[in-house]
Parts: sequence; structure tokens; C-alpha cells
Amino acid sequence: MAIALDRSADTGGQPVYQQIAAHFRAEIEGGRLGAGDRLPTIRELARTLGVNRDTVALAYDELSRMGLIEATVGRGTFVRRPAAGEASRALAPFEPVLSPLVDRLLDFERARVRYTAPAGTVPLHSLVPDPSLYPVDEFRRALNRVLSEGGSELLRYGPAQGDAALRAVLAERLCASGVGATADSVTLTLGASEGIVLALRLFAVAGDAVAIEEPTYHNVLGALAAQGLRAVPVPMRDGAPDLAVLERVLVRADVKAFYTMPTFHNPLGTSTPLAHRRALLAIAAAASKPVIEDAYEMDLRFAGKPVPSLAALDGRGLVVQLVSFSKSLFPGARVGAIAAHGRVVDALLALKHASDLGGSPILQAALAAFVVSGGYDRHLTRVRRALLQRRDAMLDALASEMPDGVRWTEPEGGLQLWVELPESLDSAELLADAVRAGVLFAPGSQFRNDRRPSSGLRLSLALAAEDEIRRGVTALATVVRERLRAAPLRAVDERVSV
Ligand SMILES: Cc1ncc(COP(=O)(O)O)c(C=O)c1O
Repeated sequence: MAIALDRSADTGGQPVYQQIAAHFRAEIEGGRLGAGDRLPTIRELARTLGVNRDTVALAYDELSRMGLIEATVGRGTFVRRPAAGEASRALAPFEPVLSPLVDRLLDFERARVRYTAPAGTVPLHSLVPDPSLYPVDEFRRALNRVLSEGGSELLRYGPAQGDAALRAVLAERLCASGVGATADSVTLTLGASEGIVLALRLFAVAGDAVAIEEPTYHNVLGALAAQGLRAVPVPMRDGAPDLAVLERVLVRADVKAFYTMPTFHNPLGTSTPLAHRRALLAIAAAASKPVIEDAYEMDLRFAGKPVPSLAALDGRGLVVQLVSFSKSLFPGARVGAIAAHGRVVDALLALKHASDLGGSPILQAALAAFVVSGGYDRHLTRVRRALLQRRDAMLDALASEMPDGVRWTEPEGGLQLWVELPESLDSAELLADAVRAGVLFAPGSQFRNDRRPSSGLRLSLALAAEDEIRRGVTALATVVRERLRAAPLRAVDERVSV
């Protein structure tokens, strides 16, 4: 079986699995392979072509989705016989050529960890805040009130920059945190997610690079891939980006911005000290590069003293700050915001106009009413109390259950903490055992741009109550201990120092 493969797919050509699928499709449609003919096994073809078995499996999946082949367990894979009546519909389904960017994004999606587990498994993997804490009734009252007062006005298109009342209350809250914001300098977005996409589009075009922390929020990696941007990792050391590396990276002409989470980092749960923040800004200023500060969990501090954000310390307009209601309230309203300055605000508005004409006026207005009524602050008081209790339960359980050599971070806010396992265990390899033992976690590899194995893992306080947290950590500790007993010592890989 000879198939000419272009192996430069990694650098922008058609992915190899699609080339294999296209070859068989042409053979079938050209009549060289007929109904009932047998295709080579995945193993045979992978060996012949010198590719990974997963690549062949993906090609076969695609062909079977197109209805061209079918696999019969134990017998093999065959060209499909059209069902009665199907032959008369001789038209093959249209298969558009997707842009290389989208194709690469699909590869990114396929590599996402799929969290499947039976009911009752302790969910320590997800950062979706606990629905049992959502202030549903209070929010419904705010929604009813604004709709009866605003009527059809709120069901039209709103301003692209977002509801004026919500921008005003957000600006007030940002000012209280030291950020010089006004209603005019705040642009509402569909969560911090859209903030990330817009901020990247502000500063970079396909082919450019953006500095990111490693580990980092995994959807940023997707956002970069979707825009054809390269990620330049800056390692996290002791819970903060390595400034010596950042300094080297930011002066590079191809690196256009730095994306960072100085407060309640995802996945580490750490916050950087004031001196580090000042030094980081000095480096960005010297390199004349903007900083995208993701302050997505800004309102979730439950312990320790607040440290001024980068945006609050920024005297020069270097920082674009992203905020969100998703983690502190609920994600379903899809409301976040970008606080920026000067021309950047105009550029953001132009980008919003060119993409979605603005978010939902009714939801934004209801959120403004909810915040103004004091409902949001009352909710924050409840949530912070719950998170503090959950964090303490998790720290206690980690201290009493985990074997020697396991370390973890102690967040002062937010929804997550990081556990570093010993002996360079690959945390992704523990996931299946952990699910069997009754707990889910997020393996560290998915927070790395190159998806290399990681001995770290992220645990979440978002969804599980204290007793579940204890049960989950105990189950995880058992799995770790069993693995340590069984695991041969391997060379220590690059670890995240926590
Ligand atoms: C660091 C970080 N930024 C942004 C987001 C996206 O949140 P939103 O729902 O506001 O789009 C998340 C969600 O997990 C996150 O962890």
C-alpha cells in the first residue's frame, strides 16, 4: 500500500490523517476499491506508512463518518455497501477544504482530556462554579425588574461597548481596586474568553508570537491556535513567571504581548507578590510590549491581603485587564469586560462592531441591576465563605492523606490549587485509576503548550463540598501511593516549582 504523504503538515499543510482519508476516498470514488473490499488493519497501515496508529485510526474515523467504510468487530474494516435506495443518491457529501488554522484547532480539540466518570465521582477537575450557590431567585427578580422598566428597548441591539449602567458599576468597582477606569474605558465582552480573543487580535496577527506562562489556562492555547499565533512559554517558578526568561522573550520582535494571570493563577492557584508585579511591568515597559492581565477570579479573594493588580500599578497604559462574572457569579450570563486606555478602547470597539455587534442588552442590564441592588456583594460574601471552608478542607485532607514528597499550593482565593507529585509521575496516567477510585482531577499536561507529560495536577474547589473534597483527596492519595509503589524511578522531568 503506497500513499504519498506530505509530512510537512505540522507546519501548515494538510494533516496526515486527512491525506490518508483523501487517498481512500479517491480510491473508493474512482472505483478502484469496491463495496466489500477490505482495508488494511490500522496496525498494518501504520507500520507501512511509518505513522502513528492514532493517525490511521483518525483517518478511518473520518471515512466512516462519510459513510464510505464500516468496521466489523473481529473481521476488519471494509468499503461500505450502500443501503437499498442509497445508491440512487449518487452525490457524495460535500467535504469543504477547511482552513489550515481550523484544522489545527481540530487537532487541539481532539487532544483535550475527556472527563467521563460515573455519577457520584467527586468532581475536582472543573472550574465551573457550584450551581447550588447561584442566586437564581434574586437574579430572576433583577431580570423581571429591568424588563418591566426597560421593555422592548432591552430586546433591541444594544451599544457595541455594552450596557452603560453595567460599564459604570464595573468602572466603580475597578476604581475601588485601584484601576483608573471609567464607564467609557470599559468594554463588555462575552466572558473573559472573548476578552482573550479580542486582546490577542488587538496586538498580533497570524504568524506572530505571544508570550504565555507555562503552565497556563488551556483555552488560551486554543485561542492562540485559532488565530494562527505561536505561544512562547515563560516558565512559572515559585508561583510566578520567571522574569529573566520574560525579559529575554519580550524583546523579541515576533513576540507581541504577554498573557498573564498574576492573581489566582490557573492552574497553579498562586498570586505574585507586589515586587514581582512592579518588576514585570518594568520589563514590559522596557520592551514596549503590552500585558494582557486576566483577572478572571478577581472578586474571589477569601484570605490574605489584596495585592494591587497589574492594571492598578500601571501608570503608562501597558496593561489590558480582563474581568469576568463567570467564576464569581455564574458563567451563563456570559458577561466579562476589558478595561483599557486610549486608542485601545477605540480598537476594541471596532473589533466588537466587526464581529458580534455587542453582547445581550437584557442580560447586561439585569446584571447591572443585580450589582447595584447589593445582590452581587451578598453573593460574594456567601461564596467566599464556602470557598474558604472548601480550601481548608482540601489542605487538611492533602496534609493528612498524601504521601511524602507531594507538594501543593495554598491559594488565598479563586477556585483551584496545584498538586505536584513526586518521582516525575505523569499525572495523566493516573486519571483512569482516579476515576475508578471515585475522583476526577485535571492533569497538568493539558496546561502546557507542547502537552508534555507533567507530574502536576489541578484540583478544584468549585463544585465539591467539604465532605466530598475529603473523600476525593483520600481516593486520589490512594492512587498516588499505589503508583509510587509500582512506578520505576524515572529521570525527573521539568517540574513546576510551587
Ligand atoms: C484563566 C481563565 N480565563 C478566562 C476564563 C474564561 O471565563 P469566561 O467564562 O469569563 O469566558 C477561564 C475559565 O475557566 C479561566 O480559567
